[in-house]
Amino acid sequence: MALLATKHVGVSFGGLRALDQVDLTVEPACVTGLIGPNGAGKTTLFNVVCGLQETNAGQVLFDDADITKLKAYERARRGLARTFQRLEVFGSLSARDNVLTAAEIHKSWSHDESDPEAVTEELVERIGLHDVADEQADTLPTGMLRLVEVARALAARPRVLLLDEPSSGLDEHESDVFAKLLLDLAGEGLAVLMVEHDVPLVMEVCTTIHVLDFGKMIAVGTPAEIQSNADVQAAYLGGATGNGDA
Ligand SMILES: Nc1ncnc2c1ncn2[C@@H]1O[C@H](COP(=O)(O)OP(=O)(O)O)[C@@H](O)[C@H]1O
Ligand SMILES: [Mg+2]
Repeated sequence: MALLATKHVGVSFGGLRALDQVDLTVEPACVTGLIGPNGAGKTTLFNVVCGLQETNAGQVLFDDADITKLKAYERARRGLARTFQRLEVFGSLSARDNVLTAAEIHKSWSHDESDPEAVTEELVERIGLHDVADEQADTLPTGMLRLVEVARALAARPRVLLLDEPSSGLDEHESDVFAKLLLDLAGEGLAVLMVEHDVPLVMEVCTTIHVLDFGKMIAVGTPAEIQSNADVQAAYLGGATGNGDA
């Protein structure tokens, strides 16, 4: 049984069927990829998993429980944390205080005895935010803010980390460092679900890749299986130069 799963999830926006009978599984200790063309429904699926989008059909299962009707904060407390495609940082706070806020909120309701300041310093170092930790967030470039969001999500000590296009804004070197971080986190047991348009990054770090197209899951498989899948080639990878939006 997967740690996190969706079963036959459907979401409609008026006449638009954004998700149709979508099944997704996320296992611990690995990075799972979610790819597909722009508008395929990837962010909508993240919102469904996190409790920010109601479903018309289907279920969200986490750790053997049906969490479909739980509120977003209740899901967060069970161990789901995410980052946002359209960054959602506290712009007037420093990078460090964005992380500290999450660490303090986590401590306020959990039985975690760790010192939020210590947790924050550890994450600031680990995620590579040391040089910008005192800078006000809204003065930082997009790539750095994506890392602030990752650190903030990790401060909640999640079991599943959902990343919505985390590498956009990272340069090649930063992307390599980020790939290693993801593999390290997975190595520690974390389940990572990542929407990402950087195909080489996805192929490098993901154990399993799911492919959404027009609201339907058209393929699931290993990177090698996905790369050689004819439907995926036609919908997404075939036009890699012009159709690379995740
Ligand atoms: N809140 C919303 N209201 C209406 N349509 C939406 C809403 N959110 C997303 N959509 C539409 O649903 C489809 C899937 O969007 P999205 O999940 O953002 O795709 P992706 O993340 O794969 O690019 C798109 O056609 C988008 O325009
Ligand atoms: Mg999106």
